[in-house]
Amino acid sequence: IEKSLEEAFEEKIAKEIRIEPKDWMPEQYRKTLVRQISQHAHSEIVGMLPEGNWITRAPSLKRKAILLSKVQDEAGHGLYLYSAAETLGTSRDQMIADLHSGKAKYSSIFNYPTLSWADIGAIGWLVDGAAIMNQVPLIRTSYGPYARAMVRVCKEESFHQRQGFEIMMSLCNGAPAQKKMAQEAFNRWWWPTLMMFGPKDAESPNTEQSMRWKIKRFTNDELRQRFVDMMVPQAEFLGLTVPDKDLKWNEAKNGYDFGDVDWEEFWNVVKGNGPCNKDRINTRVKAYEEGAWVREAALAHAQKRAAREAA
Ligand code: ACO
Repeated sequence: IEKSLEEAFEEKIAKEIRIEPKDWMPEQYRKTLVRQISQHAHSEIVGMLPEGNWITRAPSLKRKAILLSKVQDEAGHGLYLYSAAETLGTSRDQMIADLHSGKAKYSSIFNYPTLSWADIGAIGWLVDGAAIMNQVPLIRTSYGPYARAMVRVCKEESFHQRQGFEIMMSLCNGAPAQKKMAQEAFNRWWWPTLMMFGPKDAESPNTEQSMRWKIKRFTNDELRQRFVDMMVPQAEFLGLTVPDKDLKWNEAKNGYDFGDVDWEEFWNVVKGNGPCNKDRINTRVKAYEEGAWVREAALAHAQKRAAREAA
């Protein structure tokens, strides 16, 4: 029976038929999805922190309102993704416990500090730009609930990216000091953004199998290359200099050659030793603990109502 189930699964993958929660799936497929989707959810939630840091300091009421709603969108994405992961048989409590204990990973990018207002522009433009590059193909990922969640997430991310680009445009068209702020933020965020795509294909343990199962549609290096090719003209349009002395157009491959990411820095951040890792986790744990009374009150209220309805 196991064999015919596996054949049916493989056939669906080959025919581009989505795998749904109640379908049979190999244990390793389930595990890979729980890993990737929960990491993705955690990234959205932790990703609220660097930007949340600027809500009270955004330079105008309009900027505050936009940033506030963007950060709320990220919360929505996180909840959406936790729900998608739950369809695979894991619980939200377990996933959150794993984040708080340091067992679960989340994107390295959110462990860097936001030092100036220009960082908010750079995050929207670069980080959300990278997120879109990575997530639009996930609309075609083989697991149904994850693919469907990505549709809405990507629409909102596109808006986020444009708001980031627009902040960068304002700064780049502003006073020399503003232009300088934009360039400095670009310098800070460029390399960490390239790290978002993950290790090189040759050093990525999960890519091969995930490509075969059509969980991933492109490899880490393919997406990183596409991202560079998309961003360089945008940087030129803004009048910013890409902080990479090895960046060079390569006519033959119809794309840019670019320098190597500092992989030591990448793994250091992934292992929990980046500039803000500890702060990010402590903030999440504190928020969770301080929110205990809300969870208890909501539960007590629900129980009271259920008891009243039963009576
Ligand atoms: N930050 C932290 N950890 C990372 C990163 C990163 N930028 N890139 C890779 N890793 C981890 C992987 O999770 C994996 O860890 P694990 O095996 O212990 O779980 C390990 O490094 C090796 O990497 P890969 O084999 O390449 O892992 P994978 O095939 O999962 O590819 C990728 C990584 C591209 C991030 C993939 O998981 C993915 O596409 N995820 C969905 C998108 C996502 O999570 N985006 C989050 C940032 S965008 C945002 O939230 C706004």
